[in-house]
Amino acid sequence: MRSNHTKRFSLLAIASLSTLAKAAPQTRSSSCIGTISSLSDVGTAVQCTTVNIDAFTVPAGQTFNLDLLEGTTVNVLGEIQFGNLSWAGPLFEVKGTNVTFNGNGQIWDGGGPFYWDGLGTNGGVTKPRPMMKIEISGTLSDVHVVNAPAQCFSLTNPGPLVVSGIIVDDSQGNYPNANSDGLPAGHNTDGFDVSGNDLVVEKSVVINQDDCLAINRGRNIVFQDNYCNGGHGISIGSITSNVVVEGVVVRSNTVVNSQQAFRIKTDEVATNSSVSNVTYTDNVATNCTSYGVLITQSYPASLGTPGNGVIISDVDFYPGSTFLTATSNAVMVAVNCGEGSCIGTWNWSGLMTSGGMVGPMNNITVITGYTQ
Ligand SMILES: *[C@@H]1O[C@H](CO)[C@@H](O)[C@H](O)[C@H]1NC(C)=O
Ligand SMILES: *[C@@H]1O[C@H](CO)[C@@H](O)[C@H](O)[C@H]1NC(C)=O
Ligand SMILES: *[C@@H]1O[C@H](CO)[C@@H](O)[C@H](O)[C@H]1NC(C)=O
Ligand SMILES: *[C@@H]1O[C@H](CO)[C@@H](O)[C@H](O)[C@H]1NC(C)=O
Ligand SMILES: *[C@@H]1O[C@H](CO)[C@@H](O)[C@H](O)[C@H]1NC(C)=O
Ligand SMILES: *[C@@H]1O[C@H](CO)[C@@H](O)[C@H](O)[C@H]1NC(C)=O
Ligand SMILES: *[C@@H]1O[C@H](CO)[C@@H](O)[C@H](O)[C@H]1NC(C)=O
Repeated sequence: MRSNHTKRFSLLAIASLSTLAKAAPQTRSSSCIGTISSLSDVGTAVQCTTVNIDAFTVPAGQTFNLDLLEGTTVNVLGEIQFGNLSWAGPLFEVKGTNVTFNGNGQIWDGGGPFYWDGLGTNGGVTKPRPMMKIEISGTLSDVHVVNAPAQCFSLTNPGPLVVSGIIVDDSQGNYPNANSDGLPAGHNTDGFDVSGNDLVVEKSVVINQDDCLAINRGRNIVFQDNYCNGGHGISIGSITSNVVVEGVVVRSNTVVNSQQAFRIKTDEVATNSSVSNVTYTDNVATNCTSYGVLITQSYPASLGTPGNGVIISDVDFYPGSTFLTATSNAVMVAVNCGEGSCIGTWNWSGLMTSGGMVGPMNNITVITGYTQ
């Protein structure tokens, strides 16, 4: 235990024992500095509004769980490793409001190669996930994750949150290993899975084997100045029943070597959900290997029979320009809507595509300014 809080407590206790016995928790000052060098330090450290985290290894099978006081500043000062064990996770969880989380570029090593078998969360060994469960408002910056076992960041912010300068590097998962039967070892390694309002994710890098970003629900979400390499691109969905996504801006991102660049996927069977007011602006995508843009209401099938229980409205590639190149055997743009469920005005005058095949435009009459 390295918090200086304990010392202060005992001095205070000598000074006024009787008052303290009754009111101890209230008299504690939270302006102390808590230091974490092992899981046993956490309980004391989180009673301070400054929490410093030294390098340490989180024991296998346990969550490194920070439940912070309002307004806490966290400084990560060393590399965090996690003991390897097949279990459900999460590996790290942080809760709090108005938190300033400074990752300082320190590495968080999820031990991915220990778990990876090419099957992700569809089979094989149980992989702890998400690796980083973030439930704070405030800021989260400069966190460098390598080798997430499966899904990496889950963002469910209780108030406005800005996430910036994050690196998710699962590049080792691009190659087969002894357990993956020739498949890329990493799978379902989503960069950011989002269910929250008033969120900005910016200036971040994701090298992985699934969605760079997946928005499952939420309002007022901005994803800007990010770099996505190797995965499934920037996604809204998959959208299940009784969900609203409203107000998404995807701006100035670079997407390379990915299955898709921009995708909206709603479950074929979903009902009572909506996705509205989505703006793509000033992005560049190269080497899209399956689709450049895929908007589909038949998920999990890319181009199956679409459902119409999710209303998608006002999807714009405008203002600004989005340049996209697909490989010759990929489809530049495919839109697969159910009858009457893609509505509003969709101005695609800023979308410039090249390289791939022309895809279907099913049940869609709302797009203006773009022809494949
Ligand atoms: C958030 O915390 C900072 C100190 O870290 C403080 O200056 C600021 O007033 C707080 N803001 C809110 C909205 O509580
Ligand atoms: C977990 O296994 C991975 C892959 O073998 C390794 O890189 C990592 O160092 C291991 N973690 C620990 C804490 O031993
Ligand atoms: C429809 O979804 C909303 C959430 O977006 C929910 O509040 C409402 O109860 C749902 N309606 C039905 C009939 O399930
Ligand atoms: C669309 O969403 C953006 C981003 O959340 C927001 O700024 C804008 O006001 C929304 N527009 C409408 C018409 O709701
Ligand atoms: C295109 O992306 C695929 C998938 O990531 C990759 O295997 C291939 O090497 C890339 N091609 C080029 C020319 O970069
Ligand atoms: C239009 O959507 C309906 C379902 O709402 C679907 O059955 C039909 O196949 C779609 N049309 C096309 C051309 O895909
Ligand atoms: C679409 O946006 C362009 C500007 O890029 C504008 O000139 C055009 O009028 C818009 N189309 C519609 C139908 O609003």
